[in-house]
Amino acid sequence: MPRLAVTSLSLSHLRSHKTTLIQGDGRPVVIFGPNGAGKTNILEALSLLSPGRGLRRAAIPDIARTPEALGWKVTARLQAPDRTHEIETWAEPGTTTRALKIDGKTAPQIALGRLARVIWLIPAMDRLWLEGAADRRRFLDRLTLSLEPNHADTVLAYDKAMRERNRLLKDQVHNPNWYAGLETQMATHGARLTTNRIEALDRLSAAQTDAETSFPRADLALTAADPTGNTTDPDTLHQAFATARHRDMAAGRTLVGPHRADLEATYAAKAMPARACSTGEQKALLVSLILANARALTDDFGAAPIILLDEVAAHLDADHRAALYDEICTLGAQAWMTGTDANLFTPLTDRALWFEVRETDGLSQLTEVPPQ
Ligand SMILES: Nc1ncnc2c1ncn2[C@@H]1O[C@H](COP(=O)(O)OP(=O)(O)OP(=O)(O)O)[C@@H](O)[C@H]1O
Ligand SMILES: [Mg+2]
Repeated sequence: MPRLAVTSLSLSHLRSHKTTLIQGDGRPVVIFGPNGAGKTNILEALSLLSPGRGLRRAAIPDIARTPEALGWKVTARLQAPDRTHEIETWAEPGTTTRALKIDGKTAPQIALGRLARVIWLIPAMDRLWLEGAADRRRFLDRLTLSLEPNHADTVLAYDKAMRERNRLLKDQVHNPNWYAGLETQMATHGARLTTNRIEALDRLSAAQTDAETSFPRADLALTAADPTGNTTDPDTLHQAFATARHRDMAAGRTLVGPHRADLEATYAAKAMPARACSTGEQKALLVSLILANARALTDDFGAAPIILLDEVAAHLDADHRAALYDEICTLGAQAWMTGTDANLFTPLTDRALWFEVRETDGLSQLTEVPPQ
């Protein structure tokens, strides 16, 4: 199986890292060290090899190392199935957007989505099933985006038209002519957006059905308080926006449409909604989904995605940990895994590369070590 792997990663002035260089060889990577050593910061750097704001959703200036605030840079050599690519992404001091070069040429972020498939699971997602729908929609949209890179443009186009419509609503504009074009755009992009989401959920379901895994199957559904949240019919949406105008004007914003959808998961074997599952079960469901996403991407792309697993091992019992490592190795995925304790990763032995991170005087230091 051809591999997708970061074979060299350099972090410059990124948070606790002044200059950190990691050489990979395609094997999964274990990064261990105490709290605050700089482990998640490395995963954040890797997440910036995919489009968007990275796994912390940080503002660009916040990523720059303080107190210097010189700007930051991530450079990576990415071994893709067809060839090797050089990726550079950075921000100059005082800027709020990041620049990107692929193979020495300036490139848009969407190009990254086609090149480097990077997916992640982070501790902040642990409460995904318990908290508001917005986080679940974001989770679903990242899943969808990984499978359909054009989804980013669809979401942006829908949001832009909706923001303009919201402005009209706030300004109490009554003339329907002002709304017609915007609502047509919202209906077209909104229906596409929902179609993408449903296709992604179908792909994940299929990837779970075909898999032999120790992780529980999650049944997934796109739900909504009203049909506009998950209809794939642009005419239905179009009609709904026109009908809702009066009520929306009273609220000062758009109350119907796919931006109100929710993702519902059920622990299939127990017919239990995810929000009612135990903490460990909820974690196992998330692991199932990330593995299903990885399998679906492997089918599409011909190589497993890069998987970032921040502190995932700590929440799993020994059997689940061993099963997770076996699945990662069977997939051939370069997973980057962090944990405070090397013992958590023992079953990986020399199937992984091992690094220890320590922090001295606010500076992260990384050392390659033998399997622990
Ligand atoms: N912009 C910044 N400049 C300098 N240091 C920063 C910046 N942002 C965060 N840090 C520091 O980076 C350090 C390491 O953070 P990181 O989240 O990577 O730790 P970690 O090894 O994942 O720890 P934990 O095990 O607690 O998750 C923190 O001590 C934090 O104060
Ligand atoms: Mg961390």
